[in-house]
Amino acid sequence: MPLIGEQLEPQYAAPDTDWRNAVVYQVYPRSFQDDGEQGEGTIPGITSRLGHIQSLGAGALWLSPFYPSPMRDGGYDIANHTDVDPRYGTLDDFKEMTQAARERGIKVMVDLVPNHTSDKHPWFQESRSSRDNPKADWYIWQDPRLGGRLPNNWASVFSQSQLKARQRGDLWLPDGELTPPLSAWEYDPQRDQYYLHSFAKEQPDLNWQNEDVRKAIKDVMRFWIERGVDGFRIDAVPYIGKDPLFADEELDPAYIEGEHNPYDQLKRFYSMGYPPTFYYYLRELLSVADEYPDRDIRIIFEAYMPPDDVDKIDRLRPEVASSFNFGRMQAPWDAATHQALLNDYYGRLPKGAIGNQVNGNHDNPRLATRLGAAAARVAAVINYTVPGMVFVYNGEEGGFVDVDVPPERCDDRLGFRDGCRTPTLWDGSPNAGFSRAAPDELWLPIDPAYRTRNLAVQARDPASSLRLYQRLGDIRRNLPALRGNTYAGLQADDSDVLAYARRTERAQAAVVANFSGDRSLTVRVPNAGQVIGRVLLSTHPDRHDADTDFEQGVTLAPNEAILVAPSA
Ligand code: NOJ
Repeated sequence: MPLIGEQLEPQYAAPDTDWRNAVVYQVYPRSFQDDGEQGEGTIPGITSRLGHIQSLGAGALWLSPFYPSPMRDGGYDIANHTDVDPRYGTLDDFKEMTQAARERGIKVMVDLVPNHTSDKHPWFQESRSSRDNPKADWYIWQDPRLGGRLPNNWASVFSQSQLKARQRGDLWLPDGELTPPLSAWEYDPQRDQYYLHSFAKEQPDLNWQNEDVRKAIKDVMRFWIERGVDGFRIDAVPYIGKDPLFADEELDPAYIEGEHNPYDQLKRFYSMGYPPTFYYYLRELLSVADEYPDRDIRIIFEAYMPPDDVDKIDRLRPEVASSFNFGRMQAPWDAATHQALLNDYYGRLPKGAIGNQVNGNHDNPRLATRLGAAAARVAAVINYTVPGMVFVYNGEEGGFVDVDVPPERCDDRLGFRDGCRTPTLWDGSPNAGFSRAAPDELWLPIDPAYRTRNLAVQARDPASSLRLYQRLGDIRRNLPALRGNTYAGLQADDSDVLAYARRTERAQAAVVANFSGDRSLTVRVPNAGQVIGRVLLSTHPDRHDADTDFEQGVTLAPNEAILVAPSA
């Protein structure tokens, strides 16, 4: 039997662990499932839906923060790292959920937020109480400059809200004037000093130069590992290393008003990703995994940084940690770009690393909102059929779209993340089966289309998005060619087509995807070799089980992606 792309060297090989091919399902706890009338999701609610998560082929579940929090930033403002917010339940509920997940073969990954805490965290309360208390140096405090001025020009990531306010007409500025970024410093009268906050002012940055801070965060990791947690998604990692000289940042001429976050008016040499500290701190966090050699602890960094910088942190400890691969989520939807990104990604992953694919999360518009329903299916086929972990943001499997949340019901301070955080649409019953609260008591509104757009309806429809994800989950687990860990980019002779091969010593398969939304085509894939194959899966369900001949050319409908295994 000829091999698909026989002459091509596989570009990628990952280590042998359960994480290697895991589907990791992201649960945004506040929106997943309420087990009562509270209008917000709960941990027992998640436990009750583990069957659904399992049906997507998930090997792990990542929970966004569920810790006690004043909710100034959707729980990423933590007031106690080692407890469960009462709105979600208790530590016992968490234990029950973890055990139930384990029984279904689902690992649990939690969020670790090392850069900042809530301003209501006892650490910060103590730190701000005086200049000489035991935690005085746990956060980043600076004296005002002469005349009471800010310590420097560092800006907050949450400056995005300024732009939104200007666009809404709530912030008036003369035409042509740049939208001013929000300072990353907040004055505290008690200490007569400023504290640094890279994000909201209620999220003071911890001082990672302080050894006790580093120890405290490592203790948080130990706490959760000892409670059965298998991994961490580490929040905002580029921010934890700052230059202790606190020099002003330079202006960035690449800034485009109206398009970029106003904080991009400044370059960021000193206020984030400061190499001497950054790598050292991350290594220290990773060392906690070594304390549990029998646990296969896995770490994922959230690092929105240029690929070269991401590479550096991916090289720290490839066998334990890698960064989210956000490249394709942020790229324009065209075959050449996605082919190049895949080839480049698997080509540059360090030896022994586990790669990953991401189609969305709680900070970005949902997949089907960005691409439309048909292209979203193509993106799903690609993500599930390349090696490494695949992250699925809750609701993506239903092809759900962002909800237009009216201003009076908005929660997100940045003003653009509510639409992707609305409750899961389980069925056609009131509140889409999410909660028994009155509809106006839900923390965010339900998509008004829920009576027809929901998972229960989709479960009965073989052509639905849910059924595609379930089939993908099944194939990913069971098809020998996908159980391996190699990837080799193929070359199609049509610029709308992306193609690659998956091989193990004994099995092989190829994926060919048409990115055009309006053009049927017949494509040849010269470096695939002479392969006659059977279509094991298509975004277009009526194509399953058809034969296809790579020599004659593969015929694809608009927005069609197929997975082919050679039959001769
Ligand atoms: C990234 C999180 O995903 C986002 O939701 C949050 O606002 C920031 N980090 C700050 O923690």
